[in-house]
Amino acid sequence: DAAGKSGYDHYMRKEIAEQPRAIRDCLRGRVTELEGTVSLPELEGLETPSSVQFVACGTSYHAGLFGERLLRRRGIHAQTFVASEYDAAEVPIDDGTLVVGITQSGETADTMRALRGAGRAGATTLALTNVVASSAARECDRVLYIRAGPEISVAATKSFASQQVTLSLLANALADTTSRAHLRELRRLPEYVQSVLDDTGTREVAEALADADAYFFIGRGDNAPVALEGALKLKEISYEHAEGFPAGELKHGPLALVTPNTPVFAIVSGRSKTAETIGNVNEVRARGAPVVAVTDDPESVAPHTEYVLEIPETRPSVVPIVANVQLQLVAYWLANALDRPIDRPRNLAKSVTVL
Ligand code: G6P
Repeated sequence: DAAGKSGYDHYMRKEIAEQPRAIRDCLRGRVTELEGTVSLPELEGLETPSSVQFVACGTSYHAGLFGERLLRRRGIHAQTFVASEYDAAEVPIDDGTLVVGITQSGETADTMRALRGAGRAGATTLALTNVVASSAARECDRVLYIRAGPEISVAATKSFASQQVTLSLLANALADTTSRAHLRELRRLPEYVQSVLDDTGTREVAEALADADAYFFIGRGDNAPVALEGALKLKEISYEHAEGFPAGELKHGPLALVTPNTPVFAIVSGRSKTAETIGNVNEVRARGAPVVAVTDDPESVAPHTEYVLEIPETRPSVVPIVANVQLQLVAYWLANALDRPIDRPRNLAKSVTVL
């Protein structure tokens, strides 16, 4: 119904637009910027874990890949598992292990099974979820709500941003020291996301490229998970073939598929890594592929690419949250140009409650 969509044509578009508000809600009462502290009463009494294991599916898995980097950077061993592979991974657990189930719905069967197994093996379990009193929230030892608000569209958008922000808080809360600069940038994040939403370049780019054979997404370091998520979002709602990978992997296989009819989306950010990623961009351009850069450095990047989608400058650990919004909009406008149903893609469910 039009009222539920607040005047937008689709819930997905509305939920993309809601992200500044969702991020504010996620941060509310949890950050004291002045003292540089994070307050998460949900974690009270929890000892710093010897290791953290994230278990999740789909978009939530990509949030885990984002979060594990933040923890490792703070000296905490962390690893992410596709929930359905967790048993088979036979990863060691002891009573210092914290297993975090990242699940928007709190009902995904694969994630629930992994959490139950981890709990039986002696780990402390934490649900990072959007849905109050969901199975994950009820069954885990602890729960941290991401506060995204109801998400109707099958493709996850605002819940991903809220997961990333919650994981950023979790990393600061579990580490011995918090980063005041990181917290400051998290507080500014709603403005950064709003500036991406106000910039309307994505529709034009998507419509210009809607007739391609396939789409590739590359990014490195902090932005590698965004490349995976960008491809997942596009394939879910446009039904076009899309693949994402760390930029350096391009030459180890995917490059064989690159032609003038396979656009490449490159997240180019982070001063030290820009040159390497530009090198990858030049490799695909030499094969005729049109390149769309998502970048905070348009001046140095634009000469190398056909299109530029600009993002504001911020810390490397915050860039992935902002860059992803550009790719959400690209996926949305491309699916829209192809006249796909968008909110209810074929064969997919919002919450998969079977193994
Ligand atoms: C389904 C949805 C995805 C979602 C995944 C995990 O496949 O279509 O959008 O990312 O489940 O869902 P969860 O609720 O556990 O985050």
